Amino acid sequence: MLASGPLSGKWTTYVCLLSTLSTLFAPAVSVKEHDFKKCDQSGFCKRNRAFADHAVGTSAWQSPYNVLPDSGAFKDGQFQATILKTINDKGETVRLPLTVSFHESGTARVTIDEEKRQKGEIELRHSSKARKERYNEAEQWVVVGGTSLDKEAKVAFEDKTQITVQYGPSSKFEAVIRFSPFTVDFKRDGQSQIKFNDKGFLNVEHWRQKIEPPPEPEKKEGEEAEGEKKEEEKKEESKGEDESTWWDEQFGGNTDSKPRGPESVGLDISFVGYEHVFGIPSHAGPLSLKQTRGGEGNYQEPYRLYNADVFEYILDSPMTLYGAIPLMQAHRKDSSVAVFWLNAAETWIDVTKAKDSKNPLALGSGSKLSTSTHWYSESGLLDVFVFLGPTPHDITEKYGELTGTTAMPQEFSIAYHQCRWNYNSDDDVKDVDAKMDKFKMPYDVIWLDIEYTDEKKYFTWDGHSFKDPISMGKQLESHGRKLVTIIDPHIKNTDNYPVVAELKAKDLAVKNKDGNIFEGWCWPGSSHWIDAFSPAAREWWASLFKYSSFKGTMENTWIWNDMNEPSVFNGPETTMPKDNLHYGNWEHRDVHNLNGMTFHNATHHAVKSRKPGELQRPFVLTRSFFAGSQRVGAMWTGDNQAAWDHLKASIPMVLSQGIAGFPFSGADVGGFFGNPEKDLLTRWYQAGAFYPFFRGHAHIDARRREPYLAGEPYSTIIAAALRLRYSLLPSWYTAFRQAYLDGTPIIKPMFYTHPSEEAGFAIDDQFFVGNTGLLAKPVTDQDREMVDIWIPDNEVYYDYFTYDIVPTSKGKLVRVDSPMNKIPLLMQGGHIFARRDRPRRSSALMKWDDYTLVVTIGRDGKFAEGDLYVDDGESYDFEKGQYIHRKFVLEAGKTISSTDAEGRDPKSIKEGEWFKKARNILVDKIIVVGAPSSWSGKKEVTVESDGTTWTASVEYSPAAKGRAAFAIIKKVGASIAADWKVVV
Ligand code: NOJ
Repeated sequence: MLASGPLSGKWTTYVCLLSTLSTLFAPAVSVKEHDFKKCDQSGFCKRNRAFADHAVGTSAWQSPYNVLPDSGAFKDGQFQATILKTINDKGETVRLPLTVSFHESGTARVTIDEEKRQKGEIELRHSSKARKERYNEAEQWVVVGGTSLDKEAKVAFEDKTQITVQYGPSSKFEAVIRFSPFTVDFKRDGQSQIKFNDKGFLNVEHWRQKIEPPPEPEKKEGEEAEGEKKEEEKKEESKGEDESTWWDEQFGGNTDSKPRGPESVGLDISFVGYEHVFGIPSHAGPLSLKQTRGGEGNYQEPYRLYNADVFEYILDSPMTLYGAIPLMQAHRKDSSVAVFWLNAAETWIDVTKAKDSKNPLALGSGSKLSTSTHWYSESGLLDVFVFLGPTPHDITEKYGELTGTTAMPQEFSIAYHQCRWNYNSDDDVKDVDAKMDKFKMPYDVIWLDIEYTDEKKYFTWDGHSFKDPISMGKQLESHGRKLVTIIDPHIKNTDNYPVVAELKAKDLAVKNKDGNIFEGWCWPGSSHWIDAFSPAAREWWASLFKYSSFKGTMENTWIWNDMNEPSVFNGPETTMPKDNLHYGNWEHRDVHNLNGMTFHNATHHAVKSRKPGELQRPFVLTRSFFAGSQRVGAMWTGDNQAAWDHLKASIPMVLSQGIAGFPFSGADVGGFFGNPEKDLLTRWYQAGAFYPFFRGHAHIDARRREPYLAGEPYSTIIAAALRLRYSLLPSWYTAFRQAYLDGTPIIKPMFYTHPSEEAGFAIDDQFFVGNTGLLAKPVTDQDREMVDIWIPDNEVYYDYFTYDIVPTSKGKLVRVDSPMNKIPLLMQGGHIFARRDRPRRSSALMKWDDYTLVVTIGRDGKFAEGDLYVDDGESYDFEKGQYIHRKFVLEAGKTISSTDAEGRDPKSIKEGEWFKKARNILVDKIIVVGAPSSWSGKKEVTVESDGTTWTASVEYSPAAKGRAAFAIIKKVGASIAADWKVVV
C-alpha cells in the first residue's frame, strides 16, 4: 500500500496550525488533479485555445498581424520591422517591433515585443509596484552563446510583400518572411521545415486600458434583463473575446490580481512533414509527444509548463511537473529540426497531427503526418529560436551552444547515492555506511533530508540527533565518500534565527504584490523566500555556505536544493502568487519557470566559493529547473511512487531530459512514496544503474530499504547492479565529457542514434549508453523474465554478460532472457569501451585502478573503435589540459592501438601531479569479444609503447553454443596515458 503524501509524517505537526487550510492537508493518495489548473481554468490558456478555434472555424481567416509596409530593414544578419496588429473593425492598430536574427551558429531567432507605452498611458493602467513593460530578461539567465550575428546571411529576394534571407552552413537555410499576414517559413535545401503563423494563431495580447465598470445602479425589480443585455453588447464590441480573466483571476480560493491585464503571447509552429515531436520536459508521458486536442488515445489538455510541486504525479499525462525546458525537437526520417521558446512564464503547448496533402514529404514513403503545435505563454516576449538540423546531434549541439552544456561533474556524483527522508542521526549515517561495506555494496554519497536541521532552519543541525557532524563527515571521508545535505529556499520565519533576521534586514526576500515581504507556508511553517534573482541575495546566500557559517560541513559536504518551484503549501497551485514581486519589480508571473534555476544557480556559486581558491567542482541537485540548469548540476524527477508503472515511466522521462539538453537526471530508485516489493526494488536498481543520476530515495513514512535489507537473493542482485555501474564508471564519465563538450545526451533513444530507422522513432524503453554501443532495456514489468529488444541496424550484438551472439536482424525484435538476476544489456559490435573491474567501496578508491578494455568486434570481423576520457575527477584542472583522452582502434582484426583522441602533442601538456601519477595507471586486460578464429592457438601478443616492445599473454576461447569466440589479453601493462599498440 502507498503511504500518505508529504503532508503526513512530521508535517502533520503543522496541520493543526493551519485550520483555514484544511482542504489542502487532507491525506493524499495521489496528486489531486483538481489542485492544478486545467486549460479552461487558466484565463490566457482558454483565450488562446479559443482564438485558435475561432481561426480554424472561420473560413478565409485572416491573421490580424501585418508587417508595416516599408518598415523593414535587413542589416548585418538581422531583419527589423514593425508588425501592426489590427485591434478592431475600425482598423486601429498597435505596433509590435519584430526582430529576426540569423546567427553564425546557424540558428535563427524571431522576437516580437510591444512598443513601449507612453508614460501617461502606463499610469492610467498601472497602480501596482510591478514593472510595466514586458519581461525581457529571460535571455540573461538562459542564453550563454551562439548568438553572434551571421554577417554572411544575405537577402536572396525582397519585394513589398516578403523578404527571403539565406543563412547558415553554405547558406542552405532560408527564412521566407511574408508581410501580410506576417508568417515565416524556415526552409532547408529549399524545403519548408518549420512554419510560424501558418495557421494564423499568432496572438500578442496588447496593452489596453482597464475600463472600470460604472458603479452599479441600484437594481430595481425587472432590471436584470437590461444589465444582461449590456454584457451582451460589450461582448459583441470585443468580438466575442472573453474578458472575464483580463484583470483578475480566481483559482482554488486565491485571487491573482493582474496589474498589467491580459498580455499573453501565442503562436502556431508547424513542423512540415514531421510526425514525431520530442522534448518540452518535464512530463510523465511517452518520449514521442501525444496529440492534445482529444481523439482516441490523445490528451484533452495541452502540455503545460508551470513548475510545480506535483507529488505522486499521475502518469501518461500532459500535466506540469517540477521543471520546464521549452525545447521541442521534431524528427522524421533523416531529418531533425527544433524550436526553443524562450519564455519563463506559464506556458501551454497544444500538439496536433494531420495528413498534409499540400506537403510532398507527407506523401509516399516518408512521414505520413505533419505536426502542428500551438504555444502560448502568459506574459513576456514572443521569442523563439529555430534550429534546422539536420541531425538530432546538430540540435543538441546548437542548443548546447545557446544555453550551455552539462557541467563536468565530479566523478563521485555519477556513482551511487544513498538517500532517504531521513537518516535520523549521525550514528544512523555511520551505521548505514558500515553496513554498505559489510554487504560489499559500493556507494559514494549518503544524503540528509530536512530532518537533520534544527526545526527546518537551514544551515543548522538538530543537536540531539546530529551531535557531531564533523566526525560523521570524517568517517565518510575515510573511504572517499561524501555527504549531501538539503537546503531549501524557504527560510523559517521565527525568532532567534540569524538567517531569517538577515534576510529581512537586508531586504533580500521575495515580496508580495504590495511590496511587503511575502509570507507563506512550507516545511518550517511560516516562511519567507530568498529572491535569488537579486545579485545581493546571491552574494548573501554564498556567505551562508562558508565552512565558518555552516558549521559541521566539510569539503566532502554537497548540497540538495528541493522545493524550489517554489513550493508554497498554501499558495495557488502549491506555489507563489503570480503577483508577487521579484528583484527589479518583475512579477512572479513573468519569471516563475526560471525561479528554481536561479536558486540552484545561487547555491552552485555559493558552494564554489566556500573557501578562497576552492578547487572542487560543486555538486548541487535540483528539483526545479529551466533551460540552462544543466550548467549547474543534476536533477531528479521528483516524488514518484513505488509502483511498476512509475519505474517504467522513468525511462522516457530521463531520455527526454537528455534530448532537451539536461541529461544529468534520474528518478528516485525504489519509488519515493510507498514500499516497493523486493522484486520491484531490485528491478529498479537494475534500471537506476543506467540513469545518469543514480540515487535511491524514500519517503519518511516508507520502511527502511537500504539495499542490504532486501535479503537474498535480492541483495546480491542489487549489489551486482551497483558493481556494474561502478565498473562502467570510466565509460559513463567519458559520456559526461561528451555531454559537457557538445550537449550530447548521455543515454540516447533510438531516433537519436538511428535517425533513418522510422520504426524506432517512438521507442522509449531502450537506449544506448554514451558511445559504448551498450544497448540497455531495463525490465520494468513484474514477473517479466524476458524482454524484446528492438534492433536498429545490421550490426552484430553480443549479450553483455555471456558474450552470446544475439540472433538479430535489423528492424526486428529480439527476445533476451532477463531472469531477476539479469539486466537485458547488449553490446553492439564495433566498439571499444573501458571498465574498471576490481570492485571497491567507492569510486574514489578506484581512482588509481587499472583499466579493462572491452572490444566488441563488428560485423566485418575486423574493426572496432572507442574512446576513454580521464581526469582527476574533482578539480577544474581539466580546463588546463590535465586530462587523458584516448582513442582506441582495432584495425584489420589484429592491431589494437591507443592514440590521443584529440591529436594533442604530449609535449604540449605540462603535466601536473595528477597527470604524472595517472601515467602509472595501466591497461590491465583487453577482452576481445568476437575475436577472429585466426587468433586461435595464439599464446602471446606484442605490445609496443614508447619505443619499447614486450609480450602479453592471450587466452582464446572459441565460439561455442551461440557464444561468440573471445580472447583475453592479460597484463597488457601499457600506460593509459601513452600511445601503444597491441599486435596479435
Ligand atoms: C520533497 C522532495 O521531492 C523529496 O525528495 C524530499 O524527501 C521531501 N521534499 C522532503 O524534503
